[in-house]
Amino acid sequence: MDILTALLLLVHLIPVSAAKDGVSSKSRKRLMPNPVTEPPVTDPVYEALLYCNIPSMAERSMEGHAPHHFKLVSVHVFIRHGDRYPLYTIPKTKRPEVDCTLVANRKPYHPKLEAFVSHMAKGPGASFESPLNSLPLYPNHPLCEMGELTQTGVVQHLQNGQLLRDIYLKKHKLLPHNWSTEQLYLETTGKSRTLQSGLALLYGFLPDFDWKRIYFRHQPSALFCSGSCYCPVRNQYLEKEQRRQYLFRLKNGPLDRTYGDMARIVDIPIKQLRAANPIDSMLCHFCHNVSFPCTRSGCIDMEHFKVIKAHQLDDERERREKKLYFGYSLLGAHPILNQTIDRMQRAAQGKKGELFTLYSAHDVTLSPILSALGLSEARFPRFAARLIFELWQDREKPREHSVRILYNGIDFTFHTSFCQDHHKRSPKHMCPLENLVHFVKRDMFVALDGNSTNYYDACHREGA
Ligand SMILES: *[C@@H]1O[C@H](CO)[C@@H](O)[C@H](O)[C@H]1NC(C)=O
Ligand SMILES: *[C@@H]1O[C@H](CO)[C@@H](O)[C@H](O)[C@H]1NC(C)=O
Ligand SMILES: *[C@@H]1O[C@H](CO)[C@@H](O)[C@H](O)[C@H]1NC(C)=O
Ligand SMILES: *[C@@H]1O[C@H](CO)[C@@H](O)[C@H](O)[C@H]1NC(C)=O
Repeated sequence: MDILTALLLLVHLIPVSAAKDGVSSKSRKRLMPNPVTEPPVTDPVYEALLYCNIPSMAERSMEGHAPHHFKLVSVHVFIRHGDRYPLYTIPKTKRPEVDCTLVANRKPYHPKLEAFVSHMAKGPGASFESPLNSLPLYPNHPLCEMGELTQTGVVQHLQNGQLLRDIYLKKHKLLPHNWSTEQLYLETTGKSRTLQSGLALLYGFLPDFDWKRIYFRHQPSALFCSGSCYCPVRNQYLEKEQRRQYLFRLKNGPLDRTYGDMARIVDIPIKQLRAANPIDSMLCHFCHNVSFPCTRSGCIDMEHFKVIKAHQLDDERERREKKLYFGYSLLGAHPILNQTIDRMQRAAQGKKGELFTLYSAHDVTLSPILSALGLSEARFPRFAARLIFELWQDREKPREHSVRILYNGIDFTFHTSFCQDHHKRSPKHMCPLENLVHFVKRDMFVALDGNSTNYYDACHREGA
């Protein structure tokens, strides 16, 4: 299948957003996915299209749903940056021509795009913790730099922000009109793509926000582990996981032949090709409908892409079964989950503080959190993925608080390990905050090794 056919397939599978594209609801209905013809979840091309997350497709969004006597108290958002230019190049080939400037007459487009650019141009450096203040606030290279956010990436997060605005601000009045700096907590890693993604989401959420009232903190670690990053056992799990990944790759004959064929086409040793992580670059070609590169010896094509992508999916499956990544994830995600429940508990106690928290992060941030929460059904974080923790208060029993966990708009609350058995034990409609607290403070360590009771023990156990 060529890229065009794949994209057309996508257009027919996924409903187009009516609001943003002016598509009438009639034509929207025609584009609704048909469950019968929807390909099985392991189709590599279908999975790759979901990963691209091409804007213009509306999705189900379950954020903000709760019984009417519940009040929204706080919201904690974790995002992966939007679509980016590759971090690697395939040696001896022309790199894909993708323009990272933001222009109105190029797709995908968002009605707030120009206003976003002009608002960014006014952004004072005082709103950013060093070294964030040295980063550009929006992408601006006619030929993208490595890893640069693209227009697609900006539009993805403007959409995310607008969606959260409609639900949390317009519907649930999460923030007062005169919101203050302390009510927003904003944190990002030091890459331009995460800062810019965070700004695009914030702009969609609070158009024309007052620069003087926002402050982005810098997070040096992709795990967002702040002062608790030292954890030798976590690193041991990671090493074992990498070994598993290596052995699993060796077992895949078709994958080996595919790399061999591609290495022949670009005329480099197979090892060098593998080290260049060609799937990263190929995904960019794929997501941007730019044909795969050719040399005098032939072309990289869709069949190569499918084999490598299919291997990635198989690898994710084996990763879940072998549990090494799960061990890594429990320890990797603990500090940020611990911080999140801390914020939630303070909000639940009615203390002054954040109502809206945004962590602008990476796939390697979101993936361990999903794994630690036991969400094995959740797909690997696509571009502009969003993971949201909502905190609710029961107006009829003001001391009771509940959480909801949403990933890309889908409610995963009752799939998490801390609430999957909830309905067997409790008549309550919502998942109690205490479940999450007990999980983070204790149960996640028990799940890890059956014995540790806290993060420090678990990180330093002999012979784990
Ligand atoms: C926001 O407005 C409310 C009432 O209109 C007031 O009580 C509150 O102090 C104001 N907050 C800030 C931060 O100005
Ligand atoms: C993909 O690119 C081809 C030309 O390379 C073009 O004809 C086609 O319209 C593009 N498809 C989409 C969905 O943009
Ligand atoms: C977890 O949060 C508590 C505050 O509630 C803090 O004292 C503790 O150091 C945190 N632990 C880790 C590992 O982040
Ligand atoms: C838990 O600790 C006890 C005593 O230190 C030890 O005998 C047991 O093997 C440990 N269990 C696991 C699962 O590590």
